[in-house]
Amino acid sequence: MTDVSKHESIAAAGAVYYLFGATGDLARRKLFPALFSLYKEGKLAEDFAVVGLARRPRTNDQFRADVKESINEFCRYKQGDDETWTKFAEHFVYMSLDINNLDGFQELNNLTEELDAKFDIPGNRLFYLALAPELFGPVSLNLRDGGLLESKGWNRLVIEKPFGYDLQSARNLNEQLSHVFKEEEIFRIDHYLGKEMVQNIEVLRFANAFFEPLWNNSHIANVQITLSETVGVEERGGYYDKSGALRDMVQNHMLQMLAMIAMEPPSRLHPEDIRDEKVKVLRSLRPYSAAEEIDKHVIRGQYVEGTAKGKPLTGYRQEDSVNPNSATETYFAARVFVDNFRWAGVPFYIRTGKRLPVKTTEVVIEFKNVPNNVLFARRNELAPNLLVIRVNPMEGIYIKFNAKKPGVDNVIQPVSMEFCQSCQIGLNTPEAYELLIYDAARGESTYFTRWDEVSQAWSFVDRIAEAWRDGSSSLQFYPAGSWGPERTDQLLAEDGFHWWPVNGQDEDNVIWISGGPK
Ligand code: BG6
Repeated sequence: MTDVSKHESIAAAGAVYYLFGATGDLARRKLFPALFSLYKEGKLAEDFAVVGLARRPRTNDQFRADVKESINEFCRYKQGDDETWTKFAEHFVYMSLDINNLDGFQELNNLTEELDAKFDIPGNRLFYLALAPELFGPVSLNLRDGGLLESKGWNRLVIEKPFGYDLQSARNLNEQLSHVFKEEEIFRIDHYLGKEMVQNIEVLRFANAFFEPLWNNSHIANVQITLSETVGVEERGGYYDKSGALRDMVQNHMLQMLAMIAMEPPSRLHPEDIRDEKVKVLRSLRPYSAAEEIDKHVIRGQYVEGTAKGKPLTGYRQEDSVNPNSATETYFAARVFVDNFRWAGVPFYIRTGKRLPVKTTEVVIEFKNVPNNVLFARRNELAPNLLVIRVNPMEGIYIKFNAKKPGVDNVIQPVSMEFCQSCQIGLNTPEAYELLIYDAARGESTYFTRWDEVSQAWSFVDRIAEAWRDGSSSLQFYPAGSWGPERTDQLLAEDGFHWWPVNGQDEDNVIWISGGPK
């Protein structure tokens, strides 16, 4: 049995969920498991239906078997007893659809009416497009022309990134969508905004007395955001080679995390007020004014062959579907400034890359040191205080500060104090996609990106892409399994800083917080 009876009030309004791209990887790894978790927790009641859509023919039974397999493999809940599974699976149907054929959409409309009647669904529609972005426009038009938007309930469009390839293509796409959907009906996914610890940033900042007074350029020396991955491009070489780290990670995940860290407190906890504050940050990003500036502040890297844990790894140019002369970056690091009153002069260092030594996402806030006062600094090298937000895969927060070494006079050592969320509840917090699908079904848009955020992020990124296209900035190579091009360390050293080790390890690889590396 599901827990519906216990949680009746938390269920999202009944709706038909249309999963375009239902035979794809995202559906299998993330969307089916997310729907099952929501069902188990009573966040989906019984008045819903899921229509899997893709070109490939599949019977309902085959589709349900795919869904079951995906849940067994990827869901944080076990499939459970047969009764729960059978009841859940009844809500899933499959239809083979050629998205260029309007007749198919009319047929989909007929199917929808049957589902509305069967499950007592009040006409709400959630269209989830896990498709290539060039299909978003044509699908939207066919949804309208096929009569699918004419019901008495709400219509919502959920779309995956990338939203465009640059500002111009994003504008074109937005223009196409706006013929069919209003901005408030469009839910643009950035799955980083669905991560527990990214959502926790605003709570940490605005629900505690001791962070906000220090959250500015008087007290913060720099901010470091690391999003490192051990994987290479895997089977996505074709997509990635046209995208690169700048478009794949920086335009969205990195800049969104930066905006959450840097935003002003919103006047209300309302989605539009929060997004207003984030867009102000993106508008305040100092644009690099010339190619030389980009060269000075931005590093673009690509992995060549190397090793990880003793195993040989191939270079990027040897990966499947990658141009053997490719100049696409698999690594990006930059010094970014937010030119406003709060942050003037504080560098934000951001770095992301594939084939790095660990999989981790962390934000480090480095505080300015205490004045070199007569009391301690003469005899001790004082380490700065750090606040570290661990986003992924370990979730938690810790602070590092100085304390007296017990039993010894006048010796100060850095110590840490930690809230390890993963240690307390395991690695079983809701997946980003669960939170996001649930939010979209409730019309809660805080953790989706609004058009002005997307366009601001593209304007920032486009300048870099343009300079790179002109060839004025050189690609730097790094061995797979290393921490990226050597220049990345210089970037911080030029300002008198260094990257803080991630994963709670110090320079000698000693773990000084619980949880440790994954
Ligand atoms: C996606 C990128 O948006 O994020 C991938 O397209 C990347 O290239 C992934 O691997 C990383 O997400 P996560 O949640 O695994 O850190």
